[in-house]
Order: sequence, then C-alpha cells, then structure tokens
Amino acid sequence: MLDDIVSERGARCPFPPGPGDFDFARSRRMARDPLGVLLPLYERHGPIFSVRLLHARSVWMLGPEANQFVTVTHPEHFHWREGSFGDLIPLLGDGLLTIDGPYHDRARRIMLPAFHRERIESSIGVMATEARRAIDGLEPGALVDVYAWMRNLAMRIAMRALLGLDPDDGGHGAAAAEHFERALSYYGIDFHLRLLRGPGSPWRRMNASRAELDRIVYGEIERRRRDPDPDRLDVLSLLLAARDEDGSSLSDEEVRDQVMTLMFAGHDTSTSTLSFLVYELARNPGAAARLHAEQDEVLAGATPTAAQLFGALPYLDMVVDETLRLYPPAWVGPRRAVSEFEFGGYRVPAGAYVNYSSWASHRLPEVFADPEAFVPERFEPARKAALPRGAYVPFGGGSRICIGKRFGQTEVKLVASMLTGRLRLELPPGRTMTVRQMPTLSPAGGLEMRVRER
Ligand code: HEM
Repeated sequence: MLDDIVSERGARCPFPPGPGDFDFARSRRMARDPLGVLLPLYERHGPIFSVRLLHARSVWMLGPEANQFVTVTHPEHFHWREGSFGDLIPLLGDGLLTIDGPYHDRARRIMLPAFHRERIESSIGVMATEARRAIDGLEPGALVDVYAWMRNLAMRIAMRALLGLDPDDGGHGAAAAEHFERALSYYGIDFHLRLLRGPGSPWRRMNASRAELDRIVYGEIERRRRDPDPDRLDVLSLLLAARDEDGSSLSDEEVRDQVMTLMFAGHDTSTSTLSFLVYELARNPGAAARLHAEQDEVLAGATPTAAQLFGALPYLDMVVDETLRLYPPAWVGPRRAVSEFEFGGYRVPAGAYVNYSSWASHRLPEVFADPEAFVPERFEPARKAALPRGAYVPFGGGSRICIGKRFGQTEVKLVASMLTGRLRLELPPGRTMTVRQMPTLSPAGGLEMRVRER
C-alpha cells in the first residue's frame, strides 16, 4: 500500500482524467459491478481514464485501440508481475502469468509445442470420455448446479490431460483435485479476508493445500524423470521432455510453477464459459433451435471429431464467440507501466497500474450494437472479420495471447456439443443470474438448471 502511495506521489506526469478522490462507495461498487463503474467513466472521458479504488489510483484503457495498444503494439510499456497477477505468486510461483521479459519468452517458447493443434487433438479422447461420463450422470427432470457440474468435469479433464493423473485412483489424482480447489478458493474471497495471516486463516489454509500439491506434483516430476515414457502425452510429461533451441530445458521448479499456472488459468475459464453458454441458450430458444438443427445435421448423435469441431459446426463457433463476448471469464488484464507512455492524447506515468478489460470493451454500443443482447449471428464469419482490430479480445492478444486458447475452445465446444446433442437445460421459472467477477467471471452462487430430454 505504502509503495503504491509513494509511486503515485512520485509520478512524473499527471494521471489521465477521472475521479481521483477517495470514495469507499465507488470502491465497493467496483468490487460488485465493475461495468457499472467503468462504462459511465468511458462515456465521460473516452478510451483512457483513471479512477481511485480504495487507496490506489489506476488507469483503465477500453475499446479496440486501447486493447490493441496494450496487448499487441506496445506491450513493452507493461509488466504483468507487478500488476495484480503478482497476488498469484504464493500459489503459482513463476509461471507464465507472473513473469515478464526474456525469462517469460524462453518459458513460453519451450512450452508452445505442448499446445500445438495436434497435441490438443490428442486430448480429445480424454475430454470426450469424461464428458460422456458426466452427461450420463444427468437425470432428466433433475435440478443440477451446472456450474458445479462443469467445474468437476473440467477438473477431471485437467487432472488427466494436463497432469496425467487419474482422478479415480483414490490417491494422488483425487487429492490433487481437492487441494487445488481449496487453494483456488483463497482467490475468490474478499480482499480483506485475504490479508489475515493467523492460524485457521484462509492464507494458512491456502498454504497447507499448496504444500500438499507440491508434494504430489514434485513426486510426479521425480517419478517421470526417473522413468520417462515417450508415449505419455499429458502436458506435464511434454514439459519435462521439452527443449529450447539451445537444448536447455525447464527445471523441476519451473515445470511445477508452469503446470500450476496452467491448471489455474484453464480451470475456471472453461467452466464459466460452458455455464454462461447453456444459460444463454436457455434464454434464447431461437439460438438453441439453430444449434440443435446444426448438431442433428452434421453429427446425427455422434461425438464430434477434432476436424468437425474446428470447421464443420459454424453455428457452435458463433454461440461460443458470443458467449465469450458477453462473459469473457478473464475479464481484466492487469498490468503495471514500466515506462511513461502516451495514449489517446494523455501521458501515463511509469509505475501506474494500467488495466485493459475485455468485458467492458465488449459492451461498447459503438462497437457491438445492442451490446446486452445475445446474438450469435454477429459472429458470422464476414461480420467477425469486419470487426476492428482489438474489438474482440476474450483470449487477450499479441505475443502473450492465451497459450491454452485451443485447449479451452476444444473443451468448451466438445462438452457443449455433447451436452446439447443429448439434453436441454432449462432455467427454473423466475431464476436469474448475477455475475461474480473474482478471480474470473462466474455465475454467483452457481447456476441451477432443470435437465430435460432434447
Ligand atoms: C475459455 C477458456 C479461456 C479463456 C477465455 C482464457 C482467457 C485468457 C486471457 C484473456 C489471457 C490473457 C490475459 C491478459 O492479457 O492479461 C490468458 C492467458 C493465459 N491463459 Fe487462458 N483462457 C482460457 C483457457 C485457458 C486454458 C485451458 C489454459 C491452460 C491449459 C490457459 C492458460 C493461460 C496462460 C498460461 C496464460 C498466460 C500466457 C502468457 O502470458 O504467455 N488458458 N487466457
């Protein structure tokens, strides 16, 4: 906190316009309804403004040009580690989300082959087996929390495809899943509770789970280094075998930090996307009917292949795109300016906290007409291609675009396709959804829906 105040006082140029007074109500509102704070400020000040939240003044950059500036054309002005991603270091260590510069670029270079198309396609079998098992457990007529259902499914997929652990072995796999969920829950609680450090505090519980996870993951690393199996295609095994151009590889600590980061970045994002997708389909029968018609025509009840998922189901693509427009789970890109820069006629001092936001940018009416409406047709290929650069950024952009984009898209499309091919999920009368935004967008309190036959 002191560091933030000193940094703001020492700024060599004024902040962009916007409310700089301390206003507790505004800070509270931001924690509950960020769009309600950010969109009016955008209307008043344009694509760059600053706002004081609690003690700290932060800069927000919204809209296509701003997103493009931060992610693609001028990333050299920003660090991720000193933005609020730094809060993740106690759990994740030095993974892609919390490192910058050449150290980041080397790690990403070594990791990228594990995320190539053919590698992800090799995970489709695991995803489909798990999805079938989970869908078999849905009884027509029953009320299910779709968010919890998908979270469990996504965790099982991650255990197998990312870590190569069996979630049913009653030992490592199950314990890893449980401790990972426990550790993650720390990042979903209120900020002031996260500051407590005493016995029984969320911080202590998070650290206890982290220690258990370390034991499991380091144990696996050691076992696989001792007894490598070239046929294993889970991401952990691929990272252990991966080499940089100069022949160097990731150390045990680096592999541990990277897989924890992948688990973190991929878990809630896929879970929430699928939940929001079925929620919008239930509210938009026209879109659901068009999706069902495509499924019946192309798949006729079969499980989609990788080739079908990426080319033969254009309406499914549009539904996923529109879901990620309305609810991009990783809704804010927090950064810290490492050098002074200029954007939109304003200078921003080095040391400032700077954020871009896909969520707010996707709700600008001048970019997406009638922004609150769920209209998959706005992502028909020609219309999608006509969007300005930087307008649509659910996976970020530039050289640090989501490394798990293909993995996440495959998982969401496959599960959505298998689920809607067999069943229909209905909202109970009067049920509405509020969106929770920490650590990623998700339906607050889960999402109860009624299972129906197609
Ligand atoms: C629907 C699913 C997903 C969405 C919407 C999503 C979104 C994003 C976004 C917006 C960023 C950039 C954040 C920023 O600019 O500040 C990002 C980065 C990242 N994502 Fe994803 N993600 C998804 C799934 C996944 C999955 C499945 C994985 C891992 C298997 C993953 C791993 C990562 C990592 C490691 C980064 C940091 C990349 C780097 O800095 O080099 N994501 N993701």
